[in-house]
Amino acid sequence: MTGLPWDASYHDGPVPWDIEGPQPAIVRLAAEARFAGPVLDAGCGSGENALHVASLGLPVLGVDVAETALARARAKARDRGIEAEFAVADALNLELLGRRFETVLDCGLFHTFDGDERLGYVTSLASVTEHGGTLYVLCFSDGGPDTGPHPVSEEELRGAFAAGGGWNLVSVEPDRVHTRYHDDGAPAWLAQIRRT
Ligand SMILES: C[S@@+](CC[C@H](N)C(=O)[O-])C[C@H]1O[C@@H](n2cnc3c(N)ncnc32)[C@H](O)[C@@H]1O
Repeated sequence: MTGLPWDASYHDGPVPWDIEGPQPAIVRLAAEARFAGPVLDAGCGSGENALHVASLGLPVLGVDVAETALARARAKARDRGIEAEFAVADALNLELLGRRFETVLDCGLFHTFDGDERLGYVTSLASVTEHGGTLYVLCFSDGGPDTGPHPVSEEELRGAFAAGGGWNLVSVEPDRVHTRYHDDGAPAWLAQIRRT
């Protein structure tokens, strides 16, 4: 588990990716009724995206390695009167959850893994995504200017979910990831990937 450094990042002031609200791309997906429950938010952070989806009445589990972020997510759920579950789990070993989800969301986690880790992560995601279910990945793209850290090329994204690995990459569209230090977000990919 890579939890301790991640947890530490939540100790000193707001983290750059925590915009204290859901990502506009995720709000759009939700408005288009693209989420079906149960939903897993992998690397949920302080829970804004998970809570937005849960507020629509869908059962949602958010997992993260950072206990501090999860405590914040639970407190927000309580304060807002939203039912959502938050648990510590390593996204590289999601099979340990022993559960399956119709929709899996990755907002800002995929791009934090390097090439070797990505292979294991994609296998881990497959272990918890129902056949016919959908994975959404919102990650920094290399379509600059002003890219976020660890930007991913379209080829890398397509390669990670190549046919034959139990996935069908339905679409990869340019989008934005909003952060505390980009005025109008950083260039991103929004990928819709179907579990075969
Ligand atoms: C860039 S942040 C994005 C957080 C959240 N999805 C959001 O949009 O605000 C990445 C998150 O992934 C978590 N994380 C990193 N490695 C992880 C792992 N192996 N398993 C689960 N969570 C992980 C970090 O603790 C952090 O909260």
